[in-house]
Amino acid sequence: MITSRKVPHTGNTTNGKMLSTRLYKNSHAYDFFLRSMGFESGIDRFLQDLEIEVPAGIRILDAGCGTGLLGLHFLNRVPHSTLLSTDLQPNFLGATLIKASKRDLTADRIEVGTADISTPHEIRLMTKSSKTHYLNAGDGARTGNEQSSIVDKEIEFEPATRLNEGSFGLICVGAVVGYAEDTQVSLQHLARLLAPGGILLNLEMSQSLTGRYVSHRYHYHNLSHTEICGILEKSGCEVTTSHLRLRHLPAKLTRMAIIARRDGTGVPNRQTDAIQQTAVSN
Ligand SMILES: C[S@@+](CC[C@H](N)C(=O)[O-])C[C@H]1O[C@@H](n2cnc3c(N)ncnc32)[C@H](O)[C@@H]1O
Repeated sequence: MITSRKVPHTGNTTNGKMLSTRLYKNSHAYDFFLRSMGFESGIDRFLQDLEIEVPAGIRILDAGCGTGLLGLHFLNRVPHSTLLSTDLQPNFLGATLIKASKRDLTADRIEVGTADISTPHEIRLMTKSSKTHYLNAGDGARTGNEQSSIVDKEIEFEPATRLNEGSFGLICVGAVVGYAEDTQVSLQHLARLLAPGGILLNLEMSQSLTGRYVSHRYHYHNLSHTEICGILEKSGCEVTTSHLRLRHLPAKLTRMAIIARRDGTGVPNRQTDAIQQTAVSN
């Protein structure tokens, strides 16, 4: 039987929601930690090795994006795709935009917004002017003209909107659904956002000793992989799992992949209407 738990959050508040752990307060510290420990390159090697077939022109969602590595990888890889990266913590959205700009990804291909993984379809997009501000900061960093003050500006957001069901050809989540108030409900929302034939890649915390230790350390409470697979299957997906290999160390120590493909044939090209225009009442 699949069980879902209400998870007590510990930590700080962002936009009225609970932030899971102090590590996520500072995107620079998190980015430095991931890169210096080699986790970012390990995850990147795994993503490069991962055979996922999605058509050109899809919409990609990276929910709980952190510094953006999953979504930006696929934005680079899938021609004419567009990316929406969301996180509870606005700082991470800035970090994702700076990284996108350093990779020469153009502004028209990426949007960022805040969303709680408990309700991943309810988002607040960053305004165009804040987005441009961060992209310029990344551009400055790339050309050696970075002014640290430029990223200190207050980030502004549009009113809340709702994502349309069936509008994403690829959704990536990495080590985040365990922060949902109810993991089962969060996964069901994510599955509903997939277009027919679309793929959900969950680069989940592994259940190895190290995976469990790190999860415990960062207050990450998740269901077992079997339960996660069961929920996604009941949500109309065909699910496979994949373990990281030695060449993906150190990421292999803490992560594994759950890959779900939603039933239905053919992901429609160019998901133009991913964001519903009606405001969400909070
Ligand atoms: C372990 S990091 C994972 C980042 C990235 N997805 C990856 O795979 O490397 C967890 C991310 O989830 C975000 N997060 C924590 N609680 C969240 C919540 N309730 N809703 C959305 N994002 C959350 C944190 O701000 C952080 O960016």
